[in-house]
Amino acid sequence: MSVYQRVVDWIDLRLGVRDILEQNLTHYLLPRNINVWYTLGAVLLTLFGIQFITGILLLVYYVPDTGQAFDSVQQIMNEIPFGWLIRYLHVVGSNLIVIALLLHMLSVLFMAAYKTPRELTWVSGFLLLNLTLGLCLTGYLLPWSQLSFWATTVATDAAGAVPVIGDDIVRFLRGGAMVNEATLGRFFALHVMGMPLLFGLLVGVHLFCVRRAGISRPPFGDGYVPRGPRYTFEHEHHYGGIPFFPNYAVKDAAVISFFLVLLAAIVFFWPTLFMPPAGFEPADPFTTPEHIKPEWYFLWAYQTLRIFPDKFLGLAVQVAAMTFLALLPFIDRSRERRPARRPLFLICFVAGIGVFVALSIWGHYA
Ligand code: HEM
Repeated sequence: MSVYQRVVDWIDLRLGVRDILEQNLTHYLLPRNINVWYTLGAVLLTLFGIQFITGILLLVYYVPDTGQAFDSVQQIMNEIPFGWLIRYLHVVGSNLIVIALLLHMLSVLFMAAYKTPRELTWVSGFLLLNLTLGLCLTGYLLPWSQLSFWATTVATDAAGAVPVIGDDIVRFLRGGAMVNEATLGRFFALHVMGMPLLFGLLVGVHLFCVRRAGISRPPFGDGYVPRGPRYTFEHEHHYGGIPFFPNYAVKDAAVISFFLVLLAAIVFFWPTLFMPPAGFEPADPFTTPEHIKPEWYFLWAYQTLRIFPDKFLGLAVQVAAMTFLALLPFIDRSRERRPARRPLFLICFVAGIGVFVALSIWGHYA
C-alpha cells in the first residue's frame, strides 16, 4: 500500500472524507435537462477566488494614505515584477464578476428558480449582489486617482437626496464634508476587511440554501410539471439524473475556462478597457475633470438621477426598483415556472433589461 493510500485511509477512518466526497460529487445527482446557465455560480466562485488572491498581493505594496496611495499603485504597475498583471487581473476581474452576476441573476429570473422553496437563496443572492457592488465602489477610491476621487464624490453625493438626513449621510460616508483622508480610511477598511468577511459569510449561507433545497429542475421540456404546494421541507431529488462529478463538473470547467480566457484576453490585449484616462492622473480636489462617469454598471442609476428634476424622486425610483427585485419571490407567488406560460413576467423581464441597457447607453453618452 502506498504512503498516499495510507494517509488517505488514516484520515478517512477518522473523518469519513470519502463519504462526504461521494455524497457531494459522484452521488450528487443533477436534473437530466440541466443547462449551461447553471455553471455561472461556479464561475462566480472562481472569479471571486482570483479577486481574493490578487487583492492580498496588491495589499503587500499598496499604501492607504492620500499622499502615497497613487504613487504606491504606480509602483505596483511599473516597478514591482508582474505588479501590472496582478492589478489588471483585479480590475478586469471585478468587471467580469459583475457581468457573470447579472447573467446568473437573469437566468435565475428567467427559469423562475427564485420561487418556493428558494426564496432565501434569492434573498441571500440579492444581498451578495449589493455587497459586490459595494466592493466595487469602495475599491474604486483606493488608487486615489482623479477618477477615484470624482467618481466617489458623485456617488456619495447621491445620498444627499434623502430628505432631512441626506447631508448627514453624506458626511458619515465621507467622514467629512468632502472626500478626504477619512473617506480613504473607511473605504479601505470596508474593502479589504469588512465587506470580504461579510461576503464569505453570505456565500456560505447562499451555498447552504442551494444545497439544502437541491438544484431546481429547469422548467423546460414535455415532462415538466410545476410542483404542488409545500407544507413541509423537502429536498428536491433528481433520481436518474446526471452526477455532478465528473459529468457536470466538466461543463463547469468549460465555462470557467471561457471566462478565464476572456479575462486573460482583456488583461493582455485591452487592459484599459474599464479604465478611462482620468484613472491615470493623481487625485486633484481642486480640478474637476470634464467627463466623469461612474463605472458601466452604475450608469443606469446615475442617469436615473439626472432624468428626474427632483433628485429625491430619482433616488426613490431606484430604491423602489431594487426593493421590488429583492422581494420578487414574495410578490410573484404563482407556482408556474415555464417562461412561455408567464407572459406578464416575460414582458417585464424584457422591458427591465431594455430599460437598464437604454439608461446605461444614455448615461454613457449624456
Ligand atoms: C457572489 C455572488 C454569487 C455566487 C458566488 C453564487 C453562487 C451560486 C451557486 C454556486 C449556485 C448553484 C449553481 C447555479 O445555479 O449556478 C447558485 C444558485 C442560485 N443562486 Fe447564486 N450566487 C451568487 C449571486 C446570486 C444572486 C445575485 C442571485 C439573485 C439575486 C442568486 C440567486 C441564486 C438562486 C435562486 C440559485 C438557485 C438556482 C437553482 O436552484 O436553480 N445568486 N448560486
